[in-house]
Amino acid sequence: MQGERIIITVDGVGASGKSALARLLAERLGYAHLNSGLLYRATAWLVSVSGVDPASNDAVGHLLEQHSISLQYSRDKGTQVSVDGVIKEHELTTQENTQLASLVAKLPSVRDHFKPIQRHAFSPMSVVAEGRDMGTVIFPDAAIKFFVTADLAVRASRRYQQMVQNGQMGDVQTIATELARRDELDSTREIAPMKPAEGAIVVDNSVGSLDETVETMLAHVTPMG
Ligand code: DC
Repeated sequence: MQGERIIITVDGVGASGKSALARLLAERLGYAHLNSGLLYRATAWLVSVSGVDPASNDAVGHLLEQHSISLQYSRDKGTQVSVDGVIKEHELTTQENTQLASLVAKLPSVRDHFKPIQRHAFSPMSVVAEGRDMGTVIFPDAAIKFFVTADLAVRASRRYQQMVQNGQMGDVQTIATELARRDELDSTREIAPMKPAEGAIVVDNSVGSLDETVETMLAHVTPMG
């Protein structure tokens, strides 16, 4: 590939399968996968272990200045996030950390801190950038923008299966309530609310396999070469 790197954005609601879709799309295209939610999840984890008030814009901003949260990408392992050089994984996906991530993601200090990090991530590789505001705020000039949705019941049941596989407890009704609450928080916040970017291609991932949905997405990408 020559010239400027290509950016494809994949935003969407929680547990819609957009991470898996973005990762597969990146693999198929030979691009890096930028999973931006990991930055907010790592921030939430740091906030909880540091005992900082998650509602304090200044305190959380200050905490981020004192620590280093960074992303790595490899084809084998996908996107990984590290806090002060230590990779964080399962501790980021607990229900508590997931809810806290949505709270800290509202803070302007947090969003400002991660803006340049996301924009420069994995350069000069082309990137499939996944999150809530990739197409609206971080990469407004992206070549192609997707917005992934799926029915709440389908999302809750998939998340439940994932939790069972990870040996975690949960029930579908509570998961559905929490997903709906998180979507509400993410889409109604003042800064960088989750919404489809102008011109975004809306992809419904309720039915069909991930591979089928990726093929649908690739069909939009391929014509531009
Ligand atoms: O995609 P995810 O579920 O891992 O995201 C975790 C949280 O981070 C979610 O509540 C929304 C927030 N987030 C965000 O505000 N902006 C992004 N670009 C990505 C995630």
